[in-house]
Formats: sequence, C-alpha cells, structure tokens
Amino acid sequence: MLLIKNISQVLTLRGGPSARCGAAMSDLGIIEDGAILIRAERIVWVGPTRELPAGESNSHYEVFDGVGLDLVALPGFVDSHTHPVFGGTRSDEYDLRSQGKTYQEIAAAGGGIRASVRQLRAASPEQLSVRVERHFRQFLEHGTTTIEAKSGYGLSLEDELKSLQVLAALRSRSRLEVVPTFLGAHDVPDEFRDSRPEYVRRIIEEMIPRVAREGLASFCDVFCDTGYFQVGEARAILQAAKEAGLKLRIHADQLARSGGASLAAELGALSADHLEYIDRRDITRLRKAGTMATLVPGSTFNLGLNRYPPARSLIEAGVPVALATDFNPGSCFTLNMQIILSIACSQMRMTPAEAITAATINGACSLGLSERLGSLEEGKQADIVLMNVANYREIPYFFGVNHCVVTVKKGNIVINRLERT
Ligand code: NIG
Ligand code: FE
Repeated sequence: MLLIKNISQVLTLRGGPSARCGAAMSDLGIIEDGAILIRAERIVWVGPTRELPAGESNSHYEVFDGVGLDLVALPGFVDSHTHPVFGGTRSDEYDLRSQGKTYQEIAAAGGGIRASVRQLRAASPEQLSVRVERHFRQFLEHGTTTIEAKSGYGLSLEDELKSLQVLAALRSRSRLEVVPTFLGAHDVPDEFRDSRPEYVRRIIEEMIPRVAREGLASFCDVFCDTGYFQVGEARAILQAAKEAGLKLRIHADQLARSGGASLAAELGALSADHLEYIDRRDITRLRKAGTMATLVPGSTFNLGLNRYPPARSLIEAGVPVALATDFNPGSCFTLNMQIILSIACSQMRMTPAEAITAATINGACSLGLSERLGSLEEGKQADIVLMNVANYREIPYFFGVNHCVVTVKKGNIVINRLERT
C-alpha cells in the first residue's frame, strides 16, 4: 500500500477508457496539491491532499510526501511504437546522414534495416537480452511504464522467433510492461531480394501461424511504404494475421503517400503510425474508422527531415492522436518520451496538454489497454510517474533533461532518483 501526497499537480487524465480526440485532448483533469492512494496494484482514491479520506491512517501506508518539492504526477507514459530488439547500433549511418546522405540512399547501399538484420542474426539470445534489458531499465528511468515492442530485425522464421522469445523472457522478469508485435514484414531480407513473393508467402504461411500458436505476439505490423511492402502485400499479410487472432497496426505513409493509412482504416487496425505523407482523404478515412493516428516525430527530427505528420489537421478533424518514440537504431535512437513531447509541441504545434494526452491514455487505447492503463483514476493500475517540474508545461518546455524522478509500476516504486520516500 502506497500513499503519494502533496504533489503540486496530479494529471489524472480522467474520463474513462475511450480515446481522446479534438478538444478532449486538452483536458488533463488536473488536481492541484493532489494525493493518490494505492492498494494492491490499483489506485483506490485520487484527489486533493486536504481531502484525503479520514480513517486512512498514514501508518498503514508507505508514504511518499512531496511537500516542499516541485512535483507533477501523471500516468506512466505508454510508448506504443518501439523497435527495441536489435543487435547493435548504426551510428555510422547517423554520421553519413549528417553529411547529407538520405535514409533511402543508405538503405539502397545495403545499410538501414538490412544492416540491423545482419547484426541481429549474428547475436545470441543472451547478447540480445543484455542490451534489451538495459534499455528496458532506461525506459523506466525516463517515465515509461509500458511499451509496445516489435520484432523485425530477424526476417527469417528462426530470427523472428529469437527476437520475440527474448522479449517473452524479459517480460516475465522486467518491471516494464511489454506488448509484443510481430514485424516480419519490416523489409525483404537479402536472400529474398529476387523472390519477394516467396518471402511474403513465408510470412503468411510459416511465420504468422507459428508466432500466433506460440502466443509470442499480440499485434502484427507491416512497413507499408515505397521501397518496402506494397498495399497489396500488406493487405494479404495483415488479413492472415487477423485470421490468426493478432491485432493490427501499420507503418503507414512515412516516406511517401503509399496507402498504408487507408489500409489501416479498411482493415480496422487499432493504429496507423508515422503518417508524414497522408492527405485529407486519409484523415477522413481514419476518423470514420476510429483508427488511432500514432505519430513518431522523433524519427522525422532525427532523420533531419522537415515534413512532420499533420498533427493539427488530425486533431481538428477528430482523429485521436497518440505519440510514441519509434525507438530503433536507425531512424530514431531515443527512448525518452519527454523529448518526443518537446518535438511534438515545437514542430507539430501540439499543445503540451495534447501531447501528454497522446503519450498516456491515447497510447494505451492504441494498444487496447485503456481499461487498465493511461489515466490516474480509481480502479486503474497504479502506473505513475513523478516529474520534478513546477507544472506540466515544463515537461516539454525544459527539454533535453530527464525530469522523471520517481516511477511507480503496479503500485511499487521501481525508480527513485530522489531517494526520499
Ligand atoms: O519506424 N519505418 C520503419 N521502421 C523504422 C526504422 C527502422 C530502421 O531504420 O531500423 C521506423 O522508422
Ligand atoms: Fe517504426
């Protein structure tokens, strides 16, 4: 049992499990000088500290008292788009991009995703686990309590299973909550460059049935874009995944208007991600289908591009928007959601309140977990982070530092950089 009290602002994000869109994205449900009571992993009460229920004697609870500190409490970030299983970094490509080479040029020369595939295939499960586990700890330290985690650097049955099994083993011992996604259709591996249909066939007939049967993934994703998988291929793969019981999300319209967003709407995917090149028609389709638009502006920023997804048009059209890091060794090597909020506010003109909504309750919705995660309301799982800032606007405004000082997962303090409970 844990009592957190005297918190300058508690951002409850109250309002039930449904996705927030339009003006509702600005409502953080703020309680000034707030307190939160937690019992057996769940929030049992949240309100102003002065109204703490009488009879809840402090002595029964472990008490975290924020008196005299500038602390803002919010739901742990739900980072709904990450690629954390990789065997090595690609700082050489970063250097090349700084000299003017594009992501596509580097990929065409054999780098990009295929470079990560070579690294992952060469790594043992133990080597992968060490790296992934280190990053899981860093997610928690930066205020993320749940991630979606994709495979997609194996691109063979054996290496995709290896990636998902590493995730499964870590899920059972890490405090970070992990929702696994099968992304065998991330790229066509070198050995199938001259026989793409055969690779698509293997995904559909061998990989998806095996992954589903072994319960190794909740979602299936496809990189549907120019130079990667075409709409027809993506549709076939995702339909097979749906039939096998996997939920769907799509890398859509990142490099060109390639039809991924529209396909996400057609297939009832929970989320369409990236969306740099969507237009009005796509926005209308996403709104009608109720598909989450998951924006990952860290990749646009890190690739040095200037075409960001149209966040304002999406919000104004009533499409729910989520924000995620896209953590991966190629296009976006950060796992810090705080800096994603900063980029969202300064480059896409989302407000700090909209960005926080997108990074919490809407991220949870895109994973189908908003009944349990994404807001600080009675009955919800106690996933709470404390940021050492005077008010919520300072989270994106004061950028490039880690404001997260305390991370609570399932009612337990798992990170405490204040060393004061
Ligand atoms: O989301 N777009 C596809 N996948 C990643 C990049 C992966 C990589 O370059 O390793 C992304 O940006
Ligand atoms: Fe991605």
